[in-house]
This record gives sequence, structure tokens and C-alpha cells, in this order.
Amino acid sequence: MKTRIIGTGSCLPDMVVTNDALSAIMDTSDEWISSRTGIRERRLVKEETTTSMSVAAAKRAMENAGITAQEIDLIIVGTITGDYVTPSTACQVQAALGAGKAVAFDINAACSGFLFALHIADAYLKSGIYKTALILGAETLSKIMNWNDRSTCVLFGDGAGAAVVRSERTGLLAYDQGSDGARGAVLTCRNRENNNPYVKNPVEPDYTKMDGQEVYKFAVTTVPASIKKVVEEAGLTIEDIDYFALHQANIRIIQSVAKRLKAPETKFPTSLDHCGNISAASVPILLDEMNRKGLLKPGMKIVLSGFGGGLTWGSAVLEW
Ligand code: COA
Repeated sequence: MKTRIIGTGSCLPDMVVTNDALSAIMDTSDEWISSRTGIRERRLVKEETTTSMSVAAAKRAMENAGITAQEIDLIIVGTITGDYVTPSTACQVQAALGAGKAVAFDINAACSGFLFALHIADAYLKSGIYKTALILGAETLSKIMNWNDRSTCVLFGDGAGAAVVRSERTGLLAYDQGSDGARGAVLTCRNRENNNPYVKNPVEPDYTKMDGQEVYKFAVTTVPASIKKVVEEAGLTIEDIDYFALHQANIRIIQSVAKRLKAPETKFPTSLDHCGNISAASVPILLDEMNRKGLLKPGMKIVLSGFGGGLTWGSAVLEW
């Protein structure tokens, strides 16, 4: 039996912020942002939260899968921007759905969060511990951006994506994941500082900092290698893959990965232009868009790949 995605869902906040809108409040331009990244607009929260978007995405995935909350054994949310330190986003989703029998927890693997959650769910399903899992990537990245730092804040957006997975005849064929903590300093956001009464100099809250060129180099070398490895492990060739659903960080990264794999760019659908980079939520949102457009047909071979902060990366080959 294999772990199969049987339903997808997503939720984006209502507010659309175009590159032109950003250039009205900071020294940037649509030309700079779109030519370097492929991003034209992103959605940012006003009323929505990481939890509310997760719940909406989860409900759509459950409806798409045709399952009830009582059937869910496991809920895993990949996020670095949960609304609370505790309870976890997953526990809040569980409560909102009424998925009383589920075990629920969050994981932090930044932009690889959904891929890591998929792999964890796969291990539980394969071992027979659980039968049905709900996995999500959900972020409100706008709250950890320094809105005075144009080199980072223009790149990111908010949203949530979800998938229901179950053991079936076909599904996940192969998986690769990795971490390189030694290079973690290229993409950081410090957590809350110690402010106990004995600390003299509490520090200001931190925001996302990135060495864009180092992250770029990491992505264009690690991602093709990880995809090649996982495709080979699945007993397939790059030509056998129908679609590559990559983490949506930057169109140049996606183009470079396509070139290094010698695969046509038409096999790399994107949501970057209207979503920006939504970290753990990018892959499941893209997958849901592909699913709802009817691009995914039974038997198709799909590669999913996430990469980012940690540093972390994960790739999977699925038979749809
Ligand atoms: N608008 C206008 N100018 C900007 C800008 C913005 N939003 N952000 C930065 N600049 C300026 C800088 O101040 C710098 O100016 P200077 O040369 O006068 O100092 C210049 O643009 C840098 O431009 P460039 O050298 O072309 O940057 P780049 O080619 O490295 O592109 C990124 C920057 C961030 C687009 C690119 O490095 C990248 O995409 N990296 C990967 C990031 C990523 O995907 N992260 C997430 C991974 S999960």
C-alpha cells in the first residue's frame, strides 16, 4: 500500500497587494520585482490568521477527498508562523474541524514544511499506526517581515494549503529529504527573546533576514540533485514526470531547475505571479490549483519539491 493524496484544498487571504501598490509605500517597482522573481502580486492577511486559513483549506481538502472529520487520525501543520506558540496550529485546526480522535502537531521545516509533513504522515500510514492524515502548509509571513527591508518583504505572501492522504494501491513512490543546519544563517528569523527579570537588555523583535544570492545558489544546486535522486529511486526518468510542483520562491530558480533537469518549463506550473513565496504553503496551494484546474489525471507522475530555511529540502514522486 502507498500513501496517496486523495484531496486538496487551499485558502488565500482576500487582500491583493500588487507590486505597484508596494511601490507606492516603498522604493521598489513592478519592473524590479517581476523581472527578478516572477511575482506580480501577493495576498496579505487583514482579518485572516494562520489558523483560519488552515481551517478553510482543510475543509476544502476534506470535501475534495469526500471524508468527514471523524475519519482523520493525524493532523500535521508545517508552519513557521503559527498564531500561538501553544496551542499548535494543528490542535486549533483539530478543534475547529471537530476531528476529536486525531493526533495533532506542528512541524517547523520552513519552506520544506509540507514535504516533511507528507513524509512523516507516510511513515505513520505505512507502519499501520494511522489510516487517514490531514497535512497542511500554512503561513502568515507578512507578520515576520521587516516592511522597511525591500529586499525581503516584496518576496513573500500569506496563505494555506492542505491535502488529505490515505493508504491506497498507488501514491507516494519515492522520497528524499535533507537538512544542512551549518548553512542555516543565510535565512533567519529569531524567535522571541528572553525577557526574564534578570535580563538587562531585552532586544527588539527580529524579522526575516536573507542572503538572497546564497539561498539562490543553494536552491539551484540542491533541488535538481534531490529531484534526480528521487526520480531514479522511483525507477523513473525525468522524461516520465508529467509535472514538477516546486516550492514557489523565484521564477529564476524554477527555470534554472528545469534547465538542469533538461525538462521543459511547461512541466513546471507556477503560482508565483499571484501568490509570491508562501513558504510551507507554496507547494500545497500550487497542487490544489493544479488539481482544481483538472491538470492532474490518474496515473500521472508528479514531483513535489520544497526547499528553504534551515536549510532544509524534500522531494517526492507521486503517482496521482
Ligand atoms: N526593489 C528595488 N531594488 C531593490 C529591491 C526592491 N524590492 N530589493 C533590493 N533592491 C536593490 C538592492 O538594494 C541592490 O541595490 P544596489 O546594487 O544598489 O546595492 C540591488 O537591488 C540588488 O539587485 P540584484 O543584485 O539584482 O539582486 P539579486 O539578483 O541578488 O536578486 C533576489 C535579489 C532576492 C531576487 C535574488 O537574490 C533571489 O531571488 N534569491 C533567492 C531568494 C529566495 O528565493 N528566497 C526564498 C527561498 S525559500
